[in-house]
Amino acid sequence: MSRQIRLNAFDMNCVGHIQQGLWAHPRDTSTGYTTLKYWTDYARRLEAGLFDGIFLADVIGIYDVLGGSYEAAVRGAVQVPVNDPMMLVPAMAAVTEHLAFGITANLTYEQPYLFARRMSTLDHLTGGRIGWNIVTGYLDSSARAVGLTGQMAHDDRYDLADEYMEVVYKLWEGSWEDGAVLRDRANHIYAEPAKVHPIHHQGRQYKVDAVHLSEPSPQRTPVLYQAGSSPRGRAFAAGHAECVFVNGQKMESVQEIVGDIRTRAVTQGRLADDVKLFLGATIVTGRTTKEAQEKFEDYRRYASSEAALVHAAASMGIDFDKFDLDEPVEAGNSAAIISNITAMNRAAGPRWTKRLLLEQMVLGSRQQPWVGSGEDIAERLIAWSDQAGIDGFNLSRTVVPECFDDIIEQVIPILQDRGVYKTAYSPGPLRQKLFGTPRLPIRHIGATHRTSVPTESP
Ligand SMILES: Cc1cc2nc3c(=O)[nH]c(=O)nc-3n(C[C@H](O)[C@H](O)[C@H](O)COP(=O)(O)O)c2cc1C
Repeated sequence: MSRQIRLNAFDMNCVGHIQQGLWAHPRDTSTGYTTLKYWTDYARRLEAGLFDGIFLADVIGIYDVLGGSYEAAVRGAVQVPVNDPMMLVPAMAAVTEHLAFGITANLTYEQPYLFARRMSTLDHLTGGRIGWNIVTGYLDSSARAVGLTGQMAHDDRYDLADEYMEVVYKLWEGSWEDGAVLRDRANHIYAEPAKVHPIHHQGRQYKVDAVHLSEPSPQRTPVLYQAGSSPRGRAFAAGHAECVFVNGQKMESVQEIVGDIRTRAVTQGRLADDVKLFLGATIVTGRTTKEAQEKFEDYRRYASSEAALVHAAASMGIDFDKFDLDEPVEAGNSAAIISNITAMNRAAGPRWTKRLLLEQMVLGSRQQPWVGSGEDIAERLIAWSDQAGIDGFNLSRTVVPECFDDIIEQVIPILQDRGVYKTAYSPGPLRQKLFGTPRLPIRHIGATHRTSVPTESP
């Protein structure tokens, strides 16, 4: 039997996310991103259509790698201006009951003690619908913004992340025992101090001697997402991630990543199914193949090659202005997203050129769209799920909101007919919906920091 497919809308608190330039389409509404109404309408629409969640990217820093300047990024709204994704969550949660929120947060520039409380607050306010996409950044511009000369080396960022995770696990899982909160009005005892513990962390990067400020939230640790599949990224994912976000156009390469991450997770004492894999994809669909194709041709007229190149340069850490159109691009010692460079090498061979890259960016990014009727798209999603072991998809926005209406109207009913998509939400927090339990399983590294054994943990 096919596995159940999960769908997240993939967006960012800005107008130009992945498919650059489409914000200029006359039917696109994303310039409304600064208003609450934009996001509450968005959330209502996704929940009415039974989407699993909205996954919000976030990047600290500006894209100034191409030509050493941020001008093209600002001109083309390439992930700038960009507002804080966390602030959107309470508003969207207030108008929905089940929709999950995957929030990207860069751990490099924020103390774990402060961050842990913000996530606990969101987990409380959403009734346990929070996921955290753990990122460490890839831009020198973000490091310069906080007084450093450049970002940390690629693998060192993951070492920092390992220690950061240890601190937040201690705060979320270990500081307050189950049963610490009594709310005993008769005896004037809100919480039992003997069951609330300071954590004592003395590491290479962090020293924390503190009680977690929030009382335990429904999930305690938010559902942990990770994106980045360099060898060091995979090792990190295998230890911590419950959901891994991968990119890739070729089935064999994605199969390899999925298999490798699951195998690595098992060697760390976890089960292969403790990790769910989400593939990034862009869908353009309509009532017929012809209608979808026409829509794609229409969208395509608004895609911006300049903006797409700004984004690619920053995410790969390569200044493409230094290369002629037909000159092979040398990645050098990039400290940015290694898996993006690997994916390009796989797609176009190691001696790829700027011309080849531009040819790939048909809709404003390297992520080539799947264009077809609802039937065509449903077949593709099922094939990826069956053959590559993909559990779900992060669907990049194109022209909002119609891109999600199209998926809800044309694709989801077919997936439901095939028995691979829910017809109603199941109850409970996000982790319960994904894994059948609201708390981290006992075999997860985060659970080793507990001071009490939760009754519901498997
Ligand atoms: C699909 C995907 C989405 C990502 N989204 C973000 C993001 O929103 N913000 C961010 O700072 N980094 C993001 N990253 C960067 C990674 O989380 C990670 O820090 C970096 O990719 C290093 O990955 P690597 O192990 O592949 O080199 C993303 C990476 C991938 C592959």
